[in-house]
Amino acid sequence: MKKTTLLYEGKAKKVYLTEDEGLVIQEFKDDATAFNNKKKGSIAEKGVVNNAISCKLFTLLEEHGIPTHLVEKLSDRDMLCRYLEIIKVEVVVRNIAAGSLVKRYGFSEGTVLTEPIVEFYLKDDDLDDPLMNDAHAVALGVATREELAVLKSRAEAINLVLKAFFAERKLKLVDFKLEFGRNNGTILLGDEISPDTCRFWDLDTNEKLDKDRFRFDLGGVEDAYSEVQRRVLGA
Ligand code: TMP
Ligand code: ASP
Repeated sequence: MKKTTLLYEGKAKKVYLTEDEGLVIQEFKDDATAFNNKKKGSIAEKGVVNNAISCKLFTLLEEHGIPTHLVEKLSDRDMLCRYLEIIKVEVVVRNIAAGSLVKRYGFSEGTVLTEPIVEFYLKDDDLDDPLMNDAHAVALGVATREELAVLKSRAEAINLVLKAFFAERKLKLVDFKLEFGRNNGTILLGDEISPDTCRFWDLDTNEKLDKDRFRFDLGGVEDAYSEVQRRVLGA
């Protein structure tokens, strides 16, 4: 399958149309941003690593009956995907307190949550992706109540599969962000799942092995991404 026109360029990926109108190609870039583009940089070979990790995790989710946009991994940086009408809701699932949960509510970082928290954020860079509830999303017209219920239950199901998978690989799945889209009347998981969109801590040492190393200049960014890839792909 060949790329035709560039449909969209995001912070970490480009999306191309293909000769088949139902399919697009996601190309993973090395560009990295944080804090809604306020911090910019690049992480060597990140695109290759995130494509490999995402393809593996989307395949795993499909095996567990969770529908995704993945068709196949085409090359190092290219993922062939079903075309989605992206739902403008970022779904965050949290198992352990970190990041904005600590800032916003005063949890101590590392507190294990008694049950996972699912949050919705409006996908809108100009507004800095504000946290929202179901009523906001419905009022804004970004999703129906029925769709929001599907997003929440899908996110919880994905969390169960991923938590178990990462635990076997000696990684704590602290939190992660998902995006979904509409395709022929169904909702599919889209975007990517990678160290850009998840927090992973080593099970024994709590070492951070994700984009927080870039966000907070902790060093060893590339090594952390490669280590996650090694554990995920079992290489
Ligand atoms: P947060 O603690 O900053 O709200 O982030 C929660 C999770 O969502 C974390 O794993 C990082 C991920 N995330 C994204 O993938 N994209 C984003 O724009 C933000 C803010 C967070
Ligand atoms: N992805 C977001 C950005 O590019 C935020 C983040 O991951 O920290 O700014």
